[in-house]
Amino acid sequence: MGIPDPVDPGTVHELQGIFAPVHDERDVDAAITISGRVPDDLHGAYLRNGPNPLFPPLGGYTFPFDGDAMIHGLWFDEGRVRYRNRFVWTDELCLERDAGRALFGGVLSGYVPDADAVPAAFAGSHKTTPFINVVQHAGRLFACAESQTWWEVDADLATTGPVHFDGSMARLTAHPKRDPITGELILFVYRHDAPYLMWGIVGPDGEATVPMQPLDVPDAPLMVHDFAITEHYLVFVLAPLLFDPTGQHDFGPIAWQPERGTTIAVVPRPGTPGSVRVFETEAFWMWHVANAYEDGERIVVDTHRMDDPFTASPGTVQLVRLAIDLAAGTVTMDRRDDRSCEFARIDDRLIGRRHDWFIISADSGDNPFGADAFDQLWRVEGDSGAITERRLGAEGIGESIFAPRADGDGGYVLSYLYTLDGDTTDLLILDVDDLDGDEVARIHLPVRVPLGLHGSWVDP
Ligand SMILES: [Fe+2]
Repeated sequence: MGIPDPVDPGTVHELQGIFAPVHDERDVDAAITISGRVPDDLHGAYLRNGPNPLFPPLGGYTFPFDGDAMIHGLWFDEGRVRYRNRFVWTDELCLERDAGRALFGGVLSGYVPDADAVPAAFAGSHKTTPFINVVQHAGRLFACAESQTWWEVDADLATTGPVHFDGSMARLTAHPKRDPITGELILFVYRHDAPYLMWGIVGPDGEATVPMQPLDVPDAPLMVHDFAITEHYLVFVLAPLLFDPTGQHDFGPIAWQPERGTTIAVVPRPGTPGSVRVFETEAFWMWHVANAYEDGERIVVDTHRMDDPFTASPGTVQLVRLAIDLAAGTVTMDRRDDRSCEFARIDDRLIGRRHDWFIISADSGDNPFGADAFDQLWRVEGDSGAITERRLGAEGIGESIFAPRADGDGGYVLSYLYTLDGDTTDLLILDVDDLDGDEVARIHLPVRVPLGLHGSWVDP
């Protein structure tokens, strides 16, 4: 095919309004104003990634699969705050920057550049797009793509290069899990060819300790966005969202096939006896998991389910607790709420261990942002399912994160707030134990932070 035109941002909803990319890399310090008081015991940095195309791609833009990675950072130190944003300068993005225009096609455009358009090493390829998440491990910071190569950035967010822990880990999930007790980073990747799913471990020092291992399930190429760990197991929710490169379905080459049901695979971690256990359930889709932990012979998984990945209308999303009973060989699903919600997070120091609560963004049902953003923040008690709701009114949120107090228990919820117009952004700080109470602080940034995807609280 010929070279398609760049997509017109005026025709793409997800390139406008709260999604509209920013192109300037900024450092802001003195121009930040604060309402309330930033706690002295908030010491660290909130880094958040998201798709932010430098140039509109050729032939189409599909959210959230296209775009260049931009990381927005807020550093907190004894009540002071500074902000910095930087692109993740992948090789492909550098080529486009130097050309002054897009060279690569949108992921569903069907176009990839040939060797007349880009250096031979990049011909026939899509861009690497590490915009989904940003995580810290072994003192390093990684911008994460899905089933692609991660890219590393330094503490100042300057790009340092692609990440290959060992030869088997060239492509990785965007949702690794760091075991807070062992310090291991547990990884997986899904593939279009058998084996369709592999997992591995990077040790606390940043060296690969378990090269990528194949799983016998699934038996077809599935999209798997997130997973869970417990003290002794990995838990994969394998929903019937299949890659069919020769087909054209509702979402290009991706087909939802509910007749296949959803399979849950429980994989023993190294040192744990036993073999992989497989549990079949009704078909449901899960983007993200809040957390999982072991309770005797049961594995508890807090997550939210969707009837299918493409429909988030009322009644099709439920907050649920799964209980996988390893002794009885059963899975039960306790439905806790039927309102739309997403982006559950816990205190990351409890990943894989019992959590008392999680936070999640939710939809009031009267949301001025429609499906673009959420207008409520919830704290959900894990055992009872009780929900503390905070309405945000005309301000929308994507993912919020939890930042622990530097000393002692508890901590803070950090949420970027989006408005339908305006060139500035606020960051809201709430006490996780008083979620519907007074604001702890509100940081007024003189820059616009577009709606993005995932982030982390990290050591500075
Ligand atoms: Fe995600």
